[in-house]
Amino acid sequence: MASYDVIVIGSGPGGYVCAIRCAQLGLKTACVEGRETLGGTCLNVGCIPSKALLHASHQLHEAEHNFAEMGLKGKSPSVDWKQMLSYKDKVIGQNTSGIEFLFKKNKIDWLKGWGSIPEAGKVKVGDEVHEAKHIVIASGSEASSLPGIEINEKVVVTSTGALELGKIPKKMVVIGAGVIGLELGSVYTRLGTEVQVVEFLDTITPGMDAEVSRNFQKLLTKQGLSFTLGAAVQGVEATKTKAKVTYKLRKDDSEHTIDADVVLVATGRKPFTDGLGLSDLGVKMSERGQIETDDQWRTNVPGIYAIGDAIAGPMLAHKAEDEGMAAAEVIAGQHGHVNYDVIPGVIYTHPEVANVGATEEQLKDQGKKYTVGKFSFMGNGRAKANFAADGFVKILADAETDRILGAHIIGPMAGDLIHEVCVAMEFGAAAEDLARTCHAHPTYSEAVREAALACGDGPIHS
Ligand code: FAD
Ligand code: NAI
Repeated sequence: MASYDVIVIGSGPGGYVCAIRCAQLGLKTACVEGRETLGGTCLNVGCIPSKALLHASHQLHEAEHNFAEMGLKGKSPSVDWKQMLSYKDKVIGQNTSGIEFLFKKNKIDWLKGWGSIPEAGKVKVGDEVHEAKHIVIASGSEASSLPGIEINEKVVVTSTGALELGKIPKKMVVIGAGVIGLELGSVYTRLGTEVQVVEFLDTITPGMDAEVSRNFQKLLTKQGLSFTLGAAVQGVEATKTKAKVTYKLRKDDSEHTIDADVVLVATGRKPFTDGLGLSDLGVKMSERGQIETDDQWRTNVPGIYAIGDAIAGPMLAHKAEDEGMAAAEVIAGQHGHVNYDVIPGVIYTHPEVANVGATEEQLKDQGKKYTVGKFSFMGNGRAKANFAADGFVKILADAETDRILGAHIIGPMAGDLIHEVCVAMEFGAAAEDLARTCHAHPTYSEAVREAALACGDGPIHS
């Protein structure tokens, strides 16, 4: 039996960051992980592998659509799917072994195996019971399916199966027009698959600023994805190589079927807390299966904390990381804090979509008076040169104080551009503060400045 200040259960972005921060703050730390490799969902079957396939398939798209116009002539590359998957696996390996290196560097013990908490202050891994003054649960999430659908990860798949299909399918049905459906739907569309997205609601990406969502759907449709909205999926019948999806259109209750080679079920994720022994411990859970915590990530059981996808809030790697750091600081007697009003969200399609803060719809609901500053990438020289002029930046500012309340970007590198606005919001900045900041030319970030100018006297280039 070993004795620790902190044992973190789970080595995803929440868990590994928490463990590293604990070690940096002088706490003797271990991290329990049941997978073969560290890094959790994000590094093994989530953020990183999906971005590798998005990158590779985007390169193909560029070669097929834009190279010739730039004078780069010749045959477009053909797809070696096996090689693309091994590139993706190599990227995963580099990242997961990177965490192993960081654990060694910070003297964090990796307790290999599935952990449970037999009582507060103790963590059992295999036959060994370890003592810990503090336990942090960072057990993450798993895909949630629908009734009437059996996942086999070959023909009817979650994102995990979709990241390692045996071959590129001719026809794919994606159930759910959320982040996973649109990112992986984009990958396969670019690789030549006919992708049909079936969504229960009448819009894609629910919760997103409606103007951005409409624009996004148009651009994805132009790229070849097709959308069936307002459709309630009834079930999926699958053989070894084919599947049939049945859905009802909500507007008239009419029933329809679609045949596909692969069905990707992307209808959300749910917390994963199996095997931890939480109900015996009396840890409070919400109706949605999330571990309940106070605003310093303490559960109702003294000495047990929880962070990341296993608790409430957006299921995002960077949210989990921030909670991991802050929880470690709380454990070390410092003042860990996460500003949940400034957590960016990014969809890594092409163009990318990024947002932070309030949407127009939310501001209207709150009865807030606001100004809208918008600037199209059509007016941005760099974007035009790079075949990336689709989309716009929209900044929402308080009509009285000019304080930035939200930003929504659809366009090139949106996921990077959004952070300028995040920093501004953290400092309580006004749109004018962004507008008066010199931005290098020619960069995409000039579009952010122009949107900020549009909250005031007006942009220059439109
Ligand atoms: P996880 O990353 O899920 O890690 C939890 C770990 O705990 C797992 O490794 C699990 O094996 C381990 N574990 C669980 N129970 C035990 C136990 N009892 N004992 C030992 N180990 C245990 N988010 C983004 O911000 N950006 C993205 O681009 C992005 N892309 C995504 C793409 C896909 C396809 C998916 C599925 C998700 C994506 N996400 C993305 C979401 C992101 O992966 C999660 O929000 C993030 O991984 C949550 O981190 P976590 O530490 O809470 O949990
Ligand atoms: P999601 O919540 O983003 O989208 C699910 C979609 O499925 C919604 O549009 C919903 O209306 C629809 N849906 C639900 N039930 C349905 C039904 N019966 N029939 C048809 N449609 C139905 O969930 P998703 O895409 O599975 O992603 C899970 C989580 O992973 C998200 O919370 C996301 O934050 C995270 N993630 C983040 C990424 C990023 O940050 N780039 C990338 C991928 C995942």
